[in-house]
Amino acid sequence: MSNAALPEPDGVEPAAGVPRHVAIIMDGNGRWAGKRGLPRTLGHRKGVETVRRVVRHAGERGIAVLTLFAFSRENWNRPRSEVSELMALLRHFIRSDLDDLVKNNVKITVIGGRADLADDLLQMIEDAEGRTAGNDGLELVLAFNYGGRDELVRAARRAAEAVAAGTLAPQDLTEETFTRFLDTARFPDPDLVIRTSGELRISNFLLWQSAYAEYCFPATLWPDFDASHFDEALADYATRQRRFGAVPVSIAKP
Ligand code: IPE
Ligand code: IPE
Ligand code: MG
Repeated sequence: MSNAALPEPDGVEPAAGVPRHVAIIMDGNGRWAGKRGLPRTLGHRKGVETVRRVVRHAGERGIAVLTLFAFSRENWNRPRSEVSELMALLRHFIRSDLDDLVKNNVKITVIGGRADLADDLLQMIEDAEGRTAGNDGLELVLAFNYGGRDELVRAARRAAEAVAAGTLAPQDLTEETFTRFLDTARFPDPDLVIRTSGELRISNFLLWQSAYAEYCFPATLWPDFDASHFDEALADYATRQRRFGAVPVSIAKP
């Protein structure tokens, strides 16, 4: 096929550069603790320190949006004591870090189902979002009680309600308008998804939004993940050539 027959390379970016949106599946807390003969909960506590490190580093590297997968819908299937600890850790994180995040111009959004969260936790989440709403620095998105399929079903339900209410015509439901019903409506799609601990799966994370994300699977367990590991992932991303189904500029225009 001659180059003339190839489609226009619209949207093809030759160098990936710094990702605008990085999403991280924070995995490996339990194994980190297990290797040390400690209870899993201590791995989760240690993992909170990594959260602080990574938030700071994302800001320094000029990343606009950082999404962290903190608790999945499927994590309710863990022992009750571990679930309680994970709930307690979010409370603890908001209590201890919110003032600093407000000061550091971080804007917080929590995505995921809210119906099954405790009232006091909901209140804290709304407070964190409210107090940082005016900030315009790093967007920190916490995926809590989040599941990609659940988010899609909730979005579909909202779209169906809009159709039933007569505010949306079925033919106007497009990829673009559907995106507005997702929890992530305000955010660009993730450019880079990192999963720590060496697991090679996405575990129901940002299913719609990651259609064209680049992936990185460092073997490091989350509590050990530091600025240098983050930089390695960013450097790896910078070498990727994103195509979005088109062809590289160099081939399309030799
Ligand atoms: C990730 O660490 C934290 C959450 C899922 C909340 P894990 O608890 O999944 O740790 P591993 O995978 O058992 O090592
Ligand atoms: C994904 O990790 C969820 C979070 C990091 C919050 P899991 O450890 O729960 O995923 P699986 O069970 O290994 O797929
Ligand atoms: Mg895990």
